[in-house]
Amino acid sequence: MIGIFDSGSGGLSVLKEIVKLLPWEKYVYFADNAFCPYGEKSPEFIRQRSMEITDFLLGKGAGIIVVACNTATAAAISALREKYPVKFIGMEPAIKPAALSSETGVVGVLATAGTLKGSKYLTTKGLYEDNVKIVERVGKGFVELVERGILDGPEAEATVRESLQPLLDAGSDRIVLGCTHYPFLAGVIGKLAGPGVKVIDPAPHVARHLYEVMEEEGLIRKNRRRKPVVELYASGDDTSARRMLEMVLDEGK
Ligand code: DGL
Repeated sequence: MIGIFDSGSGGLSVLKEIVKLLPWEKYVYFADNAFCPYGEKSPEFIRQRSMEITDFLLGKGAGIIVVACNTATAAAISALREKYPVKFIGMEPAIKPAALSSETGVVGVLATAGTLKGSKYLTTKGLYEDNVKIVERVGKGFVELVERGILDGPEAEATVRESLQPLLDAGSDRIVLGCTHYPFLAGVIGKLAGPGVKVIDPAPHVARHLYEVMEEEGLIRKNRRRKPVVELYASGDDTSARRMLEMVLDEGK
């Protein structure tokens, strides 16, 4: 069983990519929506929550855990790897593919404040900064929109425009989505950015990495059913997360 968690429904954008590669697996997903958003919370708090959620997922039978949250990856993945004997797969900032393919030489990054301060992000950024200009913005209000299930329409467009426009004005032709909630707004981002701008989501790469690690560890099920089974738990009201899960599984059919 694969355990997955996020501060809320954002990690479902990662689950969506994972079930494409591993449709026969069983999943247990935890949305920590009673404590969402994580973006502005302290690393200590996020580490504590990540450990409690890991205990819960292991108790449900998870044999590997996907930290489907960039902010929790930044704050907690090293501590999780030190404490628990299972493998953890975290989110990666997709600066590399953006930097290597940008034609304008300007890469825009949208992420939470916690992710933008994290050492993993800063190290990756440092590797490419000599070759491209990297401009960043927190996607202000994006997480809240997704948690409410508002993925398009005038409110979503106005909220997205506020954080996206400065990146476009700076000349970005690549927009890296550094928060797992943001791919749910990719339609709006793409519409506002226009056809010359490519929106990059690291989730397909993370899904491939999970597949490889599971193969190495001998964790891939031999007994293959045709449909993924997902148990969903939430620390708060799970209505919106359940609706989003249905949507994700429906789109994956
Ligand atoms: N989905 C999360 C991330 O990837 C967390 C967003 C939040 O709770 O602020 O960073």
